[in-house]
Amino acid sequence: MRGLTQGLTKIVCKYGPPDCLFTEFFRVHKNYCLEEDNLALIVQKQVGVPVIAQLMGEDEAYLVEAAKKLVAMGADGIDFNLGCPAPRVFRKNVGGGLLRDLDRVAIILKALRAELTCTFSVKTRVGFDSDKDFEKLLEIIQNAQIDLFTLHGRTVKAFYSGTVDTRYFKRAAQVLPCPVVANGDIQTAEQAIALIENTGCRGVMIGRAAIRNPWIFGQIRSLLNGERPFQPTLSDARKYVQDLYDALPDVSDAIKLSSLKPFLNYIGIAVDPDGTFLQKVRRSTSTSEMLALCDTHLLGPHADKPYATPYAGLIARPNREKDSASDDLIP
Ligand SMILES: Cc1cc2nc3c(=O)[nH]c(=O)nc-3n(C[C@H](O)[C@H](O)[C@H](O)COP(=O)(O)O)c2cc1C
Repeated sequence: MRGLTQGLTKIVCKYGPPDCLFTEFFRVHKNYCLEEDNLALIVQKQVGVPVIAQLMGEDEAYLVEAAKKLVAMGADGIDFNLGCPAPRVFRKNVGGGLLRDLDRVAIILKALRAELTCTFSVKTRVGFDSDKDFEKLLEIIQNAQIDLFTLHGRTVKAFYSGTVDTRYFKRAAQVLPCPVVANGDIQTAEQAIALIENTGCRGVMIGRAAIRNPWIFGQIRSLLNGERPFQPTLSDARKYVQDLYDALPDVSDAIKLSSLKPFLNYIGIAVDPDGTFLQKVRRSTSTSEMLALCDTHLLGPHADKPYATPYAGLIARPNREKDSASDDLIP
């Protein structure tokens, strides 16, 4: 997740792991460069599962060039980002902004498909500001002969507000010959299983919940195998925070703090129902203060309390997920 997971993706994957990982998007344009953190996942094989490199851009020539480079560097597949809802992105007619120009989308997908023999997938939303072109989008996806289709069940303009409409998943799974992956607001392993069973989707893509609960992929796998899933406690969450901290590069404390805070925001919504931990951790001014807060709220008398299901009414990153005018989702 761009601007959030950065070098810590490998820690999230260590706990699951998921079946495969989609990188943050590589922004591809005339003067593009492939960002180091993102590349490390591909080149250094940091996560032990197939890594699909995600591209965002509007020019098929540069996209094809970047895709080939990434495959040569070890990417196990290429995903095209056709859904990013950040205004800063869609205003440039890339990500979700491209949904306003489906003819261009068809050209880009055709060019990429023609050049790629690896797994080629697309991630998108149901439309830009309405679902009026959803059927046309599905037709374009079908014609593009992609290998995997990930759908977020909202429009771009809906950002993260309202609910995900699962009828779109059903329709895509019904129409498309390739496997469809459902995305959006999946909080628990049980929800993931229900979604797969009820929609015909072949899998789920999980973002924010995996940051809070990196065990979720293993939990889904256990449920699919008829086994009892691992139930983490607050002391497991404390160990996870330590793992994240220990994986940070040797940078200033302020940078470490700003890398950890987004994670602690997601973790914080599942610690106590009134959000006390969340409030305190948001105000922490050093990593030592943050880790001390974790000790107080996640260990001692709290250590064995169940962790990972979010409490109602708590929002991890209010400015970024509530306000559809927010421009800072992508730094
Ligand atoms: C901070 C942030 C960064 C994101 N970066 C990306 C990205 O680079 N590529 C992408 O496909 N989706 C990105 N997303 C969207 C997520 O992958 C996912 O589609 C979205 O959060 C909904 O799924 P979830 O409810 O499981 O989180 C990002 C989301 C957030 C909140």
